[in-house]
Amino acid sequence: MPEFSKGLEGVVAAETEMSFIDGQHGVLEYVGIAIGDLARSSTFEETVYLLWNKKLPTQAELDAFTKGLRDNYDPPAGVLELVKNMPKDAQPMHVLRTLVSSLALFDPNPNANDVPAAREKALKILAATPAIVAAFDRHRRGEKFVPADKSLGFSENFMYMLNGEKPTAAMARAFDICMITHADHGLNNSTFTARVVISTLSDLYSAMTAAIGSLRGPLHGGANEGVMVMLNELESVDEAEAYVTNKLKNKDKIMGFGHRVYKSKDPRASELQTLARQLAEDTGNMDLYEKSHAIEEVMEREVASKGIYPNVDFYSATTYHCIGLKLDLFTPMFALSRLAGWSGHVIEQLEDNRLYRPTTNYVGPHKVAYTPIEKR
Ligand SMILES: CC(C)(COP(=O)(O)OP(=O)(O)OC[C@H]1O[C@@H](n2cnc3c(N)ncnc32)[C@H](O)[C@@H]1OP(=O)(O)O)[C@@H](O)C(=O)NCCC(=O)NCCS
Repeated sequence: MPEFSKGLEGVVAAETEMSFIDGQHGVLEYVGIAIGDLARSSTFEETVYLLWNKKLPTQAELDAFTKGLRDNYDPPAGVLELVKNMPKDAQPMHVLRTLVSSLALFDPNPNANDVPAAREKALKILAATPAIVAAFDRHRRGEKFVPADKSLGFSENFMYMLNGEKPTAAMARAFDICMITHADHGLNNSTFTARVVISTLSDLYSAMTAAIGSLRGPLHGGANEGVMVMLNELESVDEAEAYVTNKLKNKDKIMGFGHRVYKSKDPRASELQTLARQLAEDTGNMDLYEKSHAIEEVMEREVASKGIYPNVDFYSATTYHCIGLKLDLFTPMFALSRLAGWSGHVIEQLEDNRLYRPTTNYVGPHKVAYTPIEKR
């Protein structure tokens, strides 16, 4: 009987050339390049190209790839009609899951699974999804949709469609850094979900939809919203000490800390911490940064010895808030970026597919007599 690993901890379930994680030493690389170097020097478009092609693009390749994305910024009109029919009080992650699924209804050949078709669909889904999130947010505010501006980069265009005005260069860059740092991360739960779904030779839309469902959980991508709720619960930085120690005493989890793979500080948390601090200063939100930092200090003293450190969600909460995102758009924002990783993994899976089908250890009884219903 193979050994049972609860939560599949330590189980190698796929090979990838996209991201490498050394959880002991806090290393994350995309195709061999340190995440910090990408965050400081790359763009989201270039990072997606890197993940999908396993090499940095030449200028001509990047231009062609960027044009491909921009040409697909507008979702099918039928999808925007569906946005108008969404209940205004719906949660954006539920809307996102529903409408990414609906993209398949407007694709004349939704099931095509050969690698070139999958790459084309991945590009179209990635390009069109920001408009879905932006349109729903405008719909619930009773405002008209803002059509995409194809002269703008991916992040800048999303902020433009959301707010109806172009962001400052600094805000667009901050958003882009968030997109870069969230794009891929090994076989995390939602990526595994996407690979499991496509391994049945289902379709890309089903894989992305299932992955969105996985991401929204509070133990995964939903943690960034949990961090913000926690920061709002603290009236001042002085409450951090008692707040954290009480939670730990009650065996409650502190959102934005701990990771299945990292047993040191998540390198994305370090990048986002620098960004959060700068944005907090620029936007008059230093109280949020200071509360976060105070929580980190208490956690360091109390649980760092157990390998519990800040993860990507901890400082992304302050970052997103300073960028001006509403709380319930934090996780959709994560999804917009992670679509790149999910689809890259789906393509890798299709290139060398084998159906995922693990086994269970049956721990129930055997040879039980069937009791007729009237005798139970
Ligand atoms: C990410 C996470 C789900 C990883 O879970 P896991 O690998 O299954 O680890 P466990 O939940 O079994 O935790 C192992 C131990 O560390 C503790 N721990 C883990 N994360 C913790 C946190 N955020 N706060 C306090 N204690 C934590 C657990 O209580 C457990 O302690 P115990 O051994 O005394 O029972 C977990 O750390 C967590 O729930 N974090 C908060 C949610 C979050 O930020 N998620 C985003 C991940 S990127």
